[in-house]
Amino acid sequence: MSAGVELCNVTKRFGAMTAVDNVSLRIEPGEFLTLLGPSGCGKTTMLRMIAGFDVPTSGAIRVGGEDVTALPPYRRPVNQVFQSYALFPHLSVAENVGFGLRMQGVAKGEAAERIAQAIELVSLAGLGERRPHQLSGGQKQRVALARALVCRPKVLLLDEPLSALDAKLRHAMQLELKQLQRRLGMTFVFVTHDQEEALTMSDRIAIVNRGRIEQFGSAHEIYHRPATAFAADFVGQANLLEAEFVRRENGTVRVKLSGGLELVLSAATWPDDTAKALISIRPEKIHVSKQPVQAENVFAARVEEEVFKGALDHLILVTPGGARLNAVAANESALLEAIHAGDQVFCGLHASDLVVVRA
Ligand SMILES: Nc1ncnc2c1ncn2[C@@H]1O[C@H](COP(=O)(O)OP(=O)(O)OP(=O)(O)O)[C@@H](O)[C@H]1O
Ligand SMILES: [Mg+2]
Repeated sequence: MSAGVELCNVTKRFGAMTAVDNVSLRIEPGEFLTLLGPSGCGKTTMLRMIAGFDVPTSGAIRVGGEDVTALPPYRRPVNQVFQSYALFPHLSVAENVGFGLRMQGVAKGEAAERIAQAIELVSLAGLGERRPHQLSGGQKQRVALARALVCRPKVLLLDEPLSALDAKLRHAMQLELKQLQRRLGMTFVFVTHDQEEALTMSDRIAIVNRGRIEQFGSAHEIYHRPATAFAADFVGQANLLEAEFVRRENGTVRVKLSGGLELVLSAATWPDDTAKALISIRPEKIHVSKQPVQAENVFAARVEEEVFKGALDHLILVTPGGARLNAVAANESALLEAIHAGDQVFCGLHASDLVVVRA
């Protein structure tokens, strides 16, 4: 039912512009894979090459083990949902959903059955006779989805399909899409530039930057073990700091940050024979308290700024040596002593929460 997708050394140039730069990627059958990256990094171009709307300048694309590089779009077991929905305004919901089946010459009786199933699948039962202008944004999105699913592709490509929806509907559709994908067991290749959306939905995420894959892994791996400064900064927030090697100490490496702050990190993560490296620290890994704290790293700081965000407090900390760090503290209880700008605080940071990243 579902198929894997492989990109093998795929490059796409438009004139002098390299949109996709020697990308190799293996997507497993039944996987929810997200291509995540900023505008213009090459996400849509990758999707279009999988679909067959663009031809790679070099490299090969396989779907279900078969080389499809030379096949036209309609010969590939792949279907696409576009950002703009691209519904036919003069056709009803059912006719829109059935459009692909009519093109394929599927018999009327079978088509009617499959259309009804697809409409049911996306929770639009009863709305088959409506025209697109009589639907909400979320309902139109569902029609576009049903229209792609009714053809029973082995791989579904989704190019920022939720970007036109308001935040609340978008969150609801994220969960719905994920559930649908699980239920169908279909391979989804999903494109977004929204890191939260990627974390919410994906089995694995490929971080794309300037036509290349920066990192490929589970949401968990990418968030907790970013490989590059770009990945650390693009997914969540990160303190990116230059660290200088001081010495090895049983199982850890002691480093010195700008501002003189010395910290230890897990020795396994420090590259051998390296005098300097970039490290990433997630703001919420810094435990901030007015009481002394316990951790492998303990240091004092002054709160320069405090921004109340409801569930969280965003803090800017400055160490006595002048190092600035972003931290996040949970507002666990209104009864606990609140932290305010100007306060002197204790900070704790575990050695395993300092991650060495490539620049
Ligand atoms: N047909 C084309 N001719 C020339 N350049 C193109 C063409 N299609 C895309 N590009 C360029 O290739 C690069 C990648 O474009 P692409 O549409 O894949 O980016 P994207 O990651 O999908 O961006 P967005 O998030 O804005 O949709 C961009 O610099 C774009 O201008
Ligand atoms: Mg795009």
